[in-house]
Amino acid sequence: MRADVAVIGGTGFYSFLTDATDHVVETPYGAPSGPISIGEVGGRKVAFVPRHGPHHDFPPHGIPYRANAWALRSLGVRQVLAPCAVGGLRETVAPGDLVVPDQLVDRTHRRIGSYVESGAVHLPFADPYCPGVSRALAGASEDVSVGGTMVVIEGPRFSTRAESRHYAEQGWDLINMTGAPEAQLAREMGQCYAPLALVTDMDAGAESGDGVGQDEVFALFKQNLDRLTGLLAAAIAALPDPDGCTCATWSDGIDLTYEVPGR
Ligand code: ADE
Repeated sequence: MRADVAVIGGTGFYSFLTDATDHVVETPYGAPSGPISIGEVGGRKVAFVPRHGPHHDFPPHGIPYRANAWALRSLGVRQVLAPCAVGGLRETVAPGDLVVPDQLVDRTHRRIGSYVESGAVHLPFADPYCPGVSRALAGASEDVSVGGTMVVIEGPRFSTRAESRHYAEQGWDLINMTGAPEAQLAREMGQCYAPLALVTDMDAGAESGDGVGQDEVFALFKQNLDRLTGLLAAAIAALPDPDGCTCATWSDGIDLTYEVPGR
């Protein structure tokens, strides 16, 4: 069974495909978050994996990120759409907004963020997200805005008010717990990857109120699930040909010290 495209579902997003078949994939990095469903969307073979597992078993720091990207690549996946819940750090965004960020700040500190265990393999990551996949997501609806920096924190707790204020003062726009190392591992697997961020809350940055809690995040994600799945389907139908994209060609001529299935 093969797939060209994948969707990695986030908090509250545990299934995407109808008429799908489930596949248990083993990897050198252990099992992925769950069986990988494969079905068809927009004329493309699409794989779906719920990032936190089908029953939300994996907290952000416990997600098998390396197994997920490797498993998807072993099925043939070269383009990855990554919906995720995010907090907003400034008033240019509000709960319910959809954003395709264009920059990433990785503030995680206890995750394995690479397949490279030996040798000189340094991936270019100035632009962490695939321009082609980002354009397809942005073009899928007028509701989607483009650009902004997403900071990824270790979690699983939310930020203090001081942390949140600090992140906003850096000029960062969105905050999340799973966008790293997912993005860099996709790049190491030669995949085109872009997130689709749904703003579920305003983090702890507002000086009043109780700060964000998980009920708020889950409820907002649930309310927006149909909107999100419709938009992902439209984006999949509009994806460009991945051949020649720099997301895959960065390693041309480099002796990779880890296996990229099908490379
Ligand atoms: N995911 C959704 N909202 C978040 C927040 N405020 N902080 C970190 N991750 C989030």
